[in-house]
Amino acid sequence: MKFKKKISESIESRFSKLAKKKNTNKEKIYSLGLGEPYFETPKSISKKAYASINSGNTRYSDPKGSFNLRKIISAKYNKKYNLDSSPNHFLITPGSKFGLYLVLKSILNPGDSIININPCYPSYEPQIYLSEPKAKIISINLEKNFEINISSLKKKITKKTKAIIINSPNNPTGKIYSEKELVEIFNLLKKNKCWIVMDLIYEDLSYLNHNIISNKNILNYEKIILVSGFSKSYSMTGWRIGYVYTKNKLLDIMFKINQHLITNVPLFIQDASIEALKNHDNQIKKFNKELRLNYEYCLLKLSKLGFKIPSYVGGMFIFIDISRFGLRSDIFCEKLLSEYKVAATPGIFFGSNWDSHIRISLSNYKNEFKIAINKLVNFISYLKNT
Ligand SMILES: Cc1ncc(COP(=O)(O)O)c(C=O)c1O
Repeated sequence: MKFKKKISESIESRFSKLAKKKNTNKEKIYSLGLGEPYFETPKSISKKAYASINSGNTRYSDPKGSFNLRKIISAKYNKKYNLDSSPNHFLITPGSKFGLYLVLKSILNPGDSIININPCYPSYEPQIYLSEPKAKIISINLEKNFEINISSLKKKITKKTKAIIINSPNNPTGKIYSEKELVEIFNLLKKNKCWIVMDLIYEDLSYLNHNIISNKNILNYEKIILVSGFSKSYSMTGWRIGYVYTKNKLLDIMFKINQHLITNVPLFIQDASIEALKNHDNQIKKFNKELRLNYEYCLLKLSKLGFKIPSYVGGMFIFIDISRFGLRSDIFCEKLLSEYKVAATPGIFFGSNWDSHIRISLSNYKNEFKIAINKLVNFISYLKNT
């Protein structure tokens, strides 16, 4: 297959390789860079996987995903979003990333355009090109305060616009779209019969208790697709399990692609995921408390230095503006890493217009996080005085 030049190795990996190299050289690195929960998968989830393997769940299984897992996810969604879904509205996929690929593969045709809001998760653009090399990506940038400019969005919508991707809570900004913003986006897209694809992978991480999506009209829209998974809620990033929800018959197309490409997500992984959903709400609550403490520490330390820390946030990250220091975001992060032993992620990884920012991950042990933030503060004081 000929790859578009645009599909390159994840740029994030270049930077994390540098941090890892330092770690293996026994240099202690303080992380503000982690894109996953800092703790291991809870033991009882792993034990459930072993038990499932031992009981023989090692063969082909239902390509839609186990009915029991879809049933429990459906119950979770009915409660969380006040939906009236059934297990038939869900497809189990190897990670939400693959789920999103299936969605894009099923909806995009050559020449279609799709709206992608920047800054964004770096895999979106490659995924769009992989699913439809002749699709056109219409990028729109959030405003500096991370609000969406509805009139510029309106101008970008044409007859060729097929879909929009919305990630809330967002990577890298932490932004949770307000109900007002979602309704405004929905009204514009509905008028043009576009798909609304919501990446909800951080949906359980709402440490300030904001609603992620509560509007009935949006949830009942016939072209809404929700994509999520187990990676961030239960620290199951390496297990590769996620799911897609839609009531639209498009799910059948995704199901067929899933079936022919992967057959099924291993049943023992699905059994472990049932254990996660049944018995680990407390783990999510605990993680949210820790994220909240780390967020509050940032607020305390970084607001004093003139950084604006938004309050409508969730997920695992905040995204701060470093433009006043006159350094490119990758140079800023390289200096922070080599001179202060702190790993953060350059904003340029999340969109070409975002070199003015760096991403801080809130996912770390409280004490280690505090040390990292204090080191960042020292670096910033040094930059201010030079
Ligand atoms: C916004 C976003 N979507 C999807 C993913 C991938 O999640 P999964 O592990 O379920 O494929 C990530 C991972 O960092 C992410 O940040």
